Amino acid sequence: MSVSIKIGVIGAGTMGNGIAHVFSLYGNDIILVDMNDEIINSALSTIHKNMERQYRKDVITEERMEKSYNNIIGTTNLEKLSDCHLVIEAVKEDYKIKSDLFQKLDRICNQNTILASNTSSISINDLAKNISRSDKFIGMHFMNPVPVMKLVEIIKGDNTSKETLHSIKELTKSIDKISVECNDSPGFVSNRILMPMINEAAFCYMEGVAEVDAIDSIMKLGMGHPMGPLKLADLIGIDVCVYIMNVLYEGFKDEKYKVCPLLEKMVSKNQLGKKTKEGFYKYEF
Ligand code: CAA
Repeated sequence: MSVSIKIGVIGAGTMGNGIAHVFSLYGNDIILVDMNDEIINSALSTIHKNMERQYRKDVITEERMEKSYNNIIGTTNLEKLSDCHLVIEAVKEDYKIKSDLFQKLDRICNQNTILASNTSSISINDLAKNISRSDKFIGMHFMNPVPVMKLVEIIKGDNTSKETLHSIKELTKSIDKISVECNDSPGFVSNRILMPMINEAAFCYMEGVAEVDAIDSIMKLGMGHPMGPLKLADLIGIDVCVYIMNVLYEGFKDEKYKVCPLLEKMVSKNQLGKKTKEGFYKYEF
């Protein structure tokens, strides 16, 4: 697939706006869809802010910033995606919401449109079950913050065709990211390894082994991680971490994936991390 194609992104939250941001920087036309204008406007303003950050750091020119920003059109109307080459779904981690959405897209989009999910843990085969084009269905798992992280974890379903895989790998390369393939399995590779580490860090804090700062410093200074696991949990969202641990627990039926009660307590108190300004740390904006 060459550059400058039409791409739909559904879900204008952190991941969706990051995905729209990156594809637009490489000359693609983006349709960004969400449920209301307020969410879309807030996403567009975040994208502009993040592009300005790249402009100030000389990563992009002012001209590229403005042109890319203008390549993104926000809408609440899914029908606008009918002639997209690729539609990437980045809505809430919820099987039913995603599955219903893909069935709608299957009806709306032309027969050549590839459908991709940015799911961080839900089975690609399960999501492909109720659509007619499972050969054109694939997992494209981006990492947060999308404009910075190089990886796209590519998850092949049992029916994903070689052509679909090839197109998605080429497209990933065209936006200067690196695709790494894996098969469909709970949490794929990234979250099967990352989430138990975050969960264990939460247990360390809950059991009084060390303070939040100390746990993060040990992993940063001792293991060379760019940020500690508890800060990373705040960046990802505590609710997302809990959701993924439950997918691992249900998927493997293994006690080692049991979610830390402290994480569940934080979700019940709406301490979801950066997005609610409070998680393991407090945030001012
Ligand atoms: N948009 C554009 N640029 C951004 C950005 C954004 N949203 N966020 C950060 N940047 C840029 C900064 O401008 C800065 O650029 P320069 O290097 O040119 O100066 C660079 O990224 C580094 O940012 P900062 O200086 O602000 O801070 P930092 O050095 O502490 O890096 C970080 C921040 C990139 C987030 C780094 O801490 C990091 O890599 N953390 C780990 C992130 C990670 O593990 N992500 C994966 C999470 S798992 C996931 O996403 C999948 C899932 O399913 C849960």
